Amino acid sequence: MAITKTKAPAFHVTGEVGWINDPNGLIYYKGKYHAFFQHNPADTKWGPMHWGHVVSDDMTNWEYLPIALAPGGDGDKNGCFSGSAIVHDGKLWLLYTGFTENEGGESIRQLQCLAESSDGINFKKHGIVIGEDVLPDEYAPADFRDPKVWLHDGIFWCLIAARRKEGRGRILLFKSKDLFKWEFVNDVFGVDSAGIMIECPDYNEDEGYLLWCEQFQPNEGKIHLNVHTCRYAVGRIDYSTGLFCEESRGIVDYGFDIYAPQTFAYKSAVMGWLNMWDRNVPSEKYGFAGMLTVPRKVSIEDKRLCQEPIVSCESAYSCDVKGSMTDRVKVGVVVIKATELRELGLKMRVGGENYTYLTLSDGEWVFDRSVSGEAIVGVEKDSDTLNGIRRMPFSGKKDVTLTVVMDEFSLEIFEDGRAMTSTVYPPADALGLELVADAESCHYERYDIQLKA
Ligand code: FRU
Repeated sequence: MAITKTKAPAFHVTGEVGWINDPNGLIYYKGKYHAFFQHNPADTKWGPMHWGHVVSDDMTNWEYLPIALAPGGDGDKNGCFSGSAIVHDGKLWLLYTGFTENEGGESIRQLQCLAESSDGINFKKHGIVIGEDVLPDEYAPADFRDPKVWLHDGIFWCLIAARRKEGRGRILLFKSKDLFKWEFVNDVFGVDSAGIMIECPDYNEDEGYLLWCEQFQPNEGKIHLNVHTCRYAVGRIDYSTGLFCEESRGIVDYGFDIYAPQTFAYKSAVMGWLNMWDRNVPSEKYGFAGMLTVPRKVSIEDKRLCQEPIVSCESAYSCDVKGSMTDRVKVGVVVIKATELRELGLKMRVGGENYTYLTLSDGEWVFDRSVSGEAIVGVEKDSDTLNGIRRMPFSGKKDVTLTVVMDEFSLEIFEDGRAMTSTVYPPADALGLELVADAESCHYERYDIQLKA
C-alpha cells in the first residue's frame, strides 16, 4: 500500500515520503545548493537505498527534485549507499557505494560506483570504479563504503570507510587522475577504531578536519553515551605519506540524534542525519522517518570543531529578561544572550504535561526530553539515556550566546560552537516557552524562519 506524508517539519529536510538517513553529495552546483540523502521512498523503514534529492538557494527552503539514483544497476543491485559529489568539467559527479547483498555476511559487496550529470537532475551511471581489485587484501569488501571525494593539486582524492578482516574500522585513502581509475594510498590513521566499524568519513582541507562515525562504540563517561557516534579530528592529510596528522579530536555533537555529518564541497558547512540508528521513530505514523539537520557553518578554533547554524530568519520579538519570562514558539530560532550567566532553565514545547527542559547546572548544559512527548527508545541502557538526558560542557565565558533552532520535531542547541541535537515528538499544540535566568544581564530574541510560500 502506498504511504502518504501527513505531517512534516517546517524547514528541515525529510523525504517526500518514507525513510531517509545520511546526507549525501552535498554540493553547490549551477547556482543551487544540492543535498542528496539515503532514501527508501516505499517505506518508513530502511530498505533498498535510493538517493533522494533537494535543492535550495538559501540553505533553508529546500525543494524536491526527482530521485537521483535508484538501485538495480551494475554494481548497485540492492542499494545506492552513501557517497559524495564533485564538479569536474562542468558536470556533477557522484561517487557512491553500490551494495550487492549476495548471500549476506562476508559475501556482501560494497564497492564504489560513479555517476555523472550535466543538468544536476538526471544521472548516468558508470558502474564500479573502486572495486575489489584496488582494495588491499587485509580489508573486507563486505564493509567498504561511503566515499568522500575532493580535488587537491589536480588529483582526485577519496576517503572510504573499511574494516580490517582481522580487526575493526579503518579509513582508507585512494587517488585518481580522472575519477575512473583509482589506486590505494594508505590507511590514514593506521589503527583500529573503538567502534566495530567506521562509517561516513569526511574531510575538509580548507579548515583542516576529518569527520567519521563509529558503530557500537564503548561509552566515554556521561558526556558521551550514544552507541553510534560522530567524531572529528583536527589536522591535515599529508599527501606524501597518505597519513592524517592529528592535532586534537572530539565528538561532533552532544545530543541524542545526529549521525553521518557531511561537509558541502567548496563550503565549510555540514549537514547531518537528524536521527539515530536503533531507535523507534514516532513520525512513522505521519509517513516519514528521518530528517537532516540545518546546515552548520564549521570552523576550527583553538583546535576545536565549532558549529553555527545557517538559517534564514528575521527578528520577530525580543526583550530583556528580569529573572524570568514566557513566550510561545514552535518553529523558529531562539537566541539568549547573557552576561555572567550563573544558572538557566529553559522549558520548550510546553503544553499540558509535556515539556523539554534545558538547564545549566554545575558547569554543564543538561538536556532532558523525558516528558517531551512520544517516547523514543534506543539500545542504550545507561541511566542518563533511560531518563531522557544528554549533557554538553558549558563554555563558562563571561558573555554567553545560547541558540536553539526549533522545528516541529527537533531541537538543535548551540553554545560556543558546541552543538546538542535531538528529536522530540510533543503534541502539535505544545507551544509554551518558559525561561528562568540568573545572570548579570540577559536578553531574549526570537526569530521567524523566512519560509517561501
Ligand atoms: C550510515 C550508513 C552508511 C551506509 C548507509 C546505508 O548511516 O550505514 O555507512 O552507506 O548508511 O544507508
